[in-house]
Amino acid sequence: MPIAENISLQALHTFGCNEKAQYFNTIQSIEDIATHIQWAKEKKLPYLILGAGSNLLFTKTFEGLVLKMEIMGIKKVQETASEVFLSVGAGENWHHFVSYCVHKGWGGVENLSLIPGTVGAAPIQNIGAYGVEAKDCIESVTAYDTTMSSFVTLTNSHCLFGYRSSLFKHEKNRYIITSVQFILQKQPIFRTEYGAIKEVLHQKNNKQPSVEAISNAVIQIRTEKLPDPKKIGNAGSFFKNPTISKSEFENLIALFPKIIAFPISDELYKIAAGWLIETCGWKGLQKGNVGCYEKQSLVIVNYNHATGKEIYDFSEEIIQSVQSKFNILLEREVVVY
Ligand code: EPU
Repeated sequence: MPIAENISLQALHTFGCNEKAQYFNTIQSIEDIATHIQWAKEKKLPYLILGAGSNLLFTKTFEGLVLKMEIMGIKKVQETASEVFLSVGAGENWHHFVSYCVHKGWGGVENLSLIPGTVGAAPIQNIGAYGVEAKDCIESVTAYDTTMSSFVTLTNSHCLFGYRSSLFKHEKNRYIITSVQFILQKQPIFRTEYGAIKEVLHQKNNKQPSVEAISNAVIQIRTEKLPDPKKIGNAGSFFKNPTISKSEFENLIALFPKIIAFPISDELYKIAAGWLIETCGWKGLQKGNVGCYEKQSLVIVNYNHATGKEIYDFSEEIIQSVQSKFNILLEREVVVY
């Protein structure tokens, strides 16, 4: 296993900042994992598993071992009259996997079309869009447990999925996901209730939605609203939508009647962070090489060779302005190194 030294991470993450990894290698099979982790442990170095790098920001050299996950393969494990069980390698591109299912007419992941990233990263932050989250079709996750030095398969409930969170976030770095097992539906129930999907299907006069029509609608919405990381550096939503109590919400709506919020239980409201940031005047604003995307304020963009530190400082300014106007502390969805 030749481990490379002093490797640029610029092409390996979607913000495209020119930071480096002290040590770097790829993981192409489950046999590669234990030896690399042992190597890092012996050297007392931290390690980082990299997928497509679409949800992280490097602000400095990573003084440790970066391992790019490249375990591939989509395998049908079982098929019944109504369901298909697939086991998918952690290194597979997420949208490639979605397209595979859409092409077969299997439902479950079509609302998650075009999300950048890999299959192995999807359970970590429980990716979600347009009314669906990855957890809705994950049956189990297979991972190398670096504490026990053995492979484990964790069922959906063991993964402790929540909004942009999971066991893999709570116990950061303990598990190295090698494959994800999905259940897809042969007679899917379509989830078109999310406003924008309904509108696009309506525009296209699509009265009988299909897995393919929904996937195409999502691709259209995302393409219109979100910057393409191949053209402009970004990591999708930089912040999470914050959750506040009903009483905090009632105080806020009295002051800001246009606030965009959704009740998520009798006691809790989720607030659209994009609205908070836009209302603070950030939408479309550029400072130096960094900006707040003109069509979606939750997205921070790297216009021109920004350093990770510049992007981080910009996000800090947004957090402070939202805090002082609304007394809400935004949490980053992007993982910062
Ligand atoms: N809004 C504004 N101003 C903005 C952005 C949004 O007022 O600048 C308002 C919108 O008008 C809408 C509401 O906020 O009423 C919600 O906006 P949107 O539907 O765009 O969704 P979001 O909550 O901003 C979340 C996810 C996205 C996902 C979309 C669609 C998070 C942090 N983000 O964004 O996920 O694509 O919903 O389901 O939950 C990602 O995680 O990287 C990501 C792109």
